[in-house]
Amino acid sequence: MSPPLRFAMVGGGVDAFIGGVHRLAAALDGRAQLIAGALSSTPQRSLDSARSLGLDPDRSYESYQQLIERETARPESDRVDFVSVVTPNHLHHPVAKACLEAGLHVVCDKPFTMTSVQAIELRDLARNNNLVCAVTYNYTGYPLVREMRSLIASGAIGQLRKVYAEYHQGWLATALEDTGMKQASWRTDPERAGIAGALGDIGTHAENLVSFVTGLEIDSLCADLTSFVPGRSLDDDASALLRFKGGAKGTLTCSQVCVGEENGLTLRVYAETGALIWRQENPNVLEQTSLDGDRRLITRGGDRSPAATSATRLPPGHPEGFIEAFANIYRGACDAIESKRAGQPDADTLTPTAEDGRRGVRFVELCVQSARDGSSWVEWTD
Ligand SMILES: NC(=O)c1ccc[n+]([C@@H]2O[C@H](COP(=O)([O-])OP(=O)(O)OC[C@H]3O[C@@H](n4cnc5c(N)ncnc54)[C@H](O)[C@@H]3O)[C@@H](O)[C@H]2O)c1
Repeated sequence: MSPPLRFAMVGGGVDAFIGGVHRLAAALDGRAQLIAGALSSTPQRSLDSARSLGLDPDRSYESYQQLIERETARPESDRVDFVSVVTPNHLHHPVAKACLEAGLHVVCDKPFTMTSVQAIELRDLARNNNLVCAVTYNYTGYPLVREMRSLIASGAIGQLRKVYAEYHQGWLATALEDTGMKQASWRTDPERAGIAGALGDIGTHAENLVSFVTGLEIDSLCADLTSFVPGRSLDDDASALLRFKGGAKGTLTCSQVCVGEENGLTLRVYAETGALIWRQENPNVLEQTSLDGDRRLITRGGDRSPAATSATRLPPGHPEGFIEAFANIYRGACDAIESKRAGQPDADTLTPTAEDGRRGVRFVELCVQSARDGSSWVEWTD
């Protein structure tokens, strides 16, 4: 096995949420090692955060600009291979752009960028510079999500008819942003979150899951966005009707004001001869129903598709979860980087790409356009 890739992190400092998950996920298979960082919004907090993680002071940076400048000044054999971007949304584009321009591969969290124009710029920069730019739509890393995808592609439930994707949380049911809680503050601030709230934060995960699992392409959509909590300028609840190319239809709902819901991401797909249902909060079980009413519970592990099996680390009955699924995204990103380094053709790693990120941002833009226009039907245009 080749030595671990070396990576830096931008964001993910003290008290951050997802940066720590990225670090665990990257470390799980021994494929990537964190060696540098510009982890927080101020120089001192960045250095303090780096110290708390035990990073080498020489590679603990005050800002992402300093990180890129000093890392790229090192000999190629000594510099970081890739940078993980885990800041609030508004910084994804400038940080990823600077990394790609400097020749560094990128792993970026969602929503990929603030606008689809920015997303196209990053996608094209990565392509033109022969660099990986992966987007951590981590739910696609679950083995049974990959099994669901394989079953649908094999025709196991026939022609798709109806897709229900829902992503329901309740943690923003009150004005948490007014308490100073930083995760709530930036997510409800258009300057830092973008043009959408819940839709950008979790609706993009649902859109990506639908696309990854079903392969369906949205032809047109009609959306309704609401800010239920008084004073909030971005949506905290969204519903969209979807018409797919080929005739299938769908609904996608996302909300952060559904009291009692924790991380309720569910995908239900109904087709001519069967149905498949997967729930993120019970991720080791996939439910398959056939036309005659027979119901089969498919568990993780066992005799599954190659895509699911290769994403599985433990035998059946030994639960795997969020971190393992996230680690599969990192494993794919590392495979992609290593095959580029070896001059091999791009591997199909199943890890979401900048193009997937672009599509998610475009989905948000079109939903916002529809909602502003009285929930009118909007044709999908790239
Ligand atoms: N894939 C997922 O499941 C998932 C889950 C949660 C969040 N996210 C995404 O991850 C990103 C971060 O979300 P979070 O909840 O961890 O936010 P957070 O507020 O908890 O953490 C953001 C971090 O970025 C740092 N930061 C801010 N400005 C910076 C700068 N200029 N330079 C360096 N660091 C800076 C902050 O100090 C903080 O450490 C968001 O884009 C969010 O949408 C993805």
